[in-house]
Amino acid sequence: MFTLKNHLEIRDNHLVISGMDTIELAEKYGTPLYVTNESRIIDNFSAYRKAFPDADIYYAAKANGSLAILRMLARQGAGADVFSYGELYMALLAGIPREKILFNGNSKTDFELQKAVETGVRVSVDSRDEMHTLSEIAQISGKTIEIAFRVNPDVSPRTHPKISTGLKTSKFGIPADEVVSAYREASGLSGISPCGIHCHIGSQILDTSPFTEATHKMMDLVGKITELGIKLKFVDMGSGLGIPYKKEETAPTPRDHADAILPVFKERTKALGISPKLILEPGRYIVGDTTILLTRVNTVKKAAKNFVGVDAGFNLLVRPTMYDSYHYAVVANKAGSEPEETYTIAGPICETGDVFAKDRMLPRVEKGDIIALLDAGAYGFSMSSQYNGRPRCAEVLVKDGIADIIRGREDIGDLIGKQKIPERLM
Ligand code: LLP
Repeated sequence: MFTLKNHLEIRDNHLVISGMDTIELAEKYGTPLYVTNESRIIDNFSAYRKAFPDADIYYAAKANGSLAILRMLARQGAGADVFSYGELYMALLAGIPREKILFNGNSKTDFELQKAVETGVRVSVDSRDEMHTLSEIAQISGKTIEIAFRVNPDVSPRTHPKISTGLKTSKFGIPADEVVSAYREASGLSGISPCGIHCHIGSQILDTSPFTEATHKMMDLVGKITELGIKLKFVDMGSGLGIPYKKEETAPTPRDHADAILPVFKERTKALGISPKLILEPGRYIVGDTTILLTRVNTVKKAAKNFVGVDAGFNLLVRPTMYDSYHYAVVANKAGSEPEETYTIAGPICETGDVFAKDRMLPRVEKGDIIALLDAGAYGFSMSSQYNGRPRCAEVLVKDGIADIIRGREDIGDLIGKQKIPERLM
């Protein structure tokens, strides 16, 4: 047995995850199949906690919102960053305490704000407009809701433009130069109590210097807000730590993330004589490398390229199509065999962009082989759809040779479930 990448191993030429043979998993549960290694999630979460011993870690539920995963993290003491009522509901259901939930979002409905008020979670307010709406909703309920403002710090995270969230032109947050007056106004409104500040500059960030730049900018604002007489209870720096999708890629660790933030945070809060709680909201780092997507080869075709047609499509893992992202591909039943030919792995969806991996050297691929797409735990299943009339696949959680279904495979009934044909068309 030898280690392939991180927690993945090869035994008898088969890919093994947490003691489980992936080919046996594919036979037992069918394909496509998401398989998550429970221990790896705990290890990743622990690495964050160790790197930031005094901070609260709010897992970004959008990365992978499966209830079992939220539950595991709740048991580890995680809080949650939620971005919709659905995520809020699931986080609470999984046992994440409401005091450790921040309701984020740039365009929340009144219903969502009402739910935030009812459940008593903190809200990251993205605009003055939202501030007024929340203040009114909270007053009607006779409650006071603790809020942060989401700051747009105008920092370039040097990542894919679609996941850069802290640039001046992005849709998120209040421009940094308007933030102080927003706090001034909020402190005069009923129903809301400004007690935190929040930013998030982007995702899949591989260079930590933008985190330092953002911390400086946020602490400048913290200083000005403190001068207003507002006592901030927390500073939420979001997250965005990248992971090495390519084997040869190096990525910063939570420790590097801490080195980029903590010295500035500690020095500046000390100078101000305040002690707000630091909050981080990692998603990708916690779950990204914990999960593989198993997909079966339907057909191999020699054309302009050697195409391998598999049974998963971008409806199940949209990242390569949407961000040109790289996912390592392993022929799971030939995991230790020598690469022989170059293949392009494509899904069954009627779009040219439905390609998971381009021009990869792999052992000879045949119909029936199982391909594992690695590092599919973050923004994989959570971004899935039923496009092209394809029910979503199942998810399995494995730990030390034990496997549990954590989400059943959808079927045709799930495709038509909520649909109706009007009587006049019958
Ligand atoms: N906090 C907030 C407010 C966020 O918007 C996000 C991610 C996170 C935390 C977690 O960031 P992370 O640690 O996962 O980088 N679908 C894209 C990524 C979108 C990220 C959106 N926001 C992808 O597949 O790469």
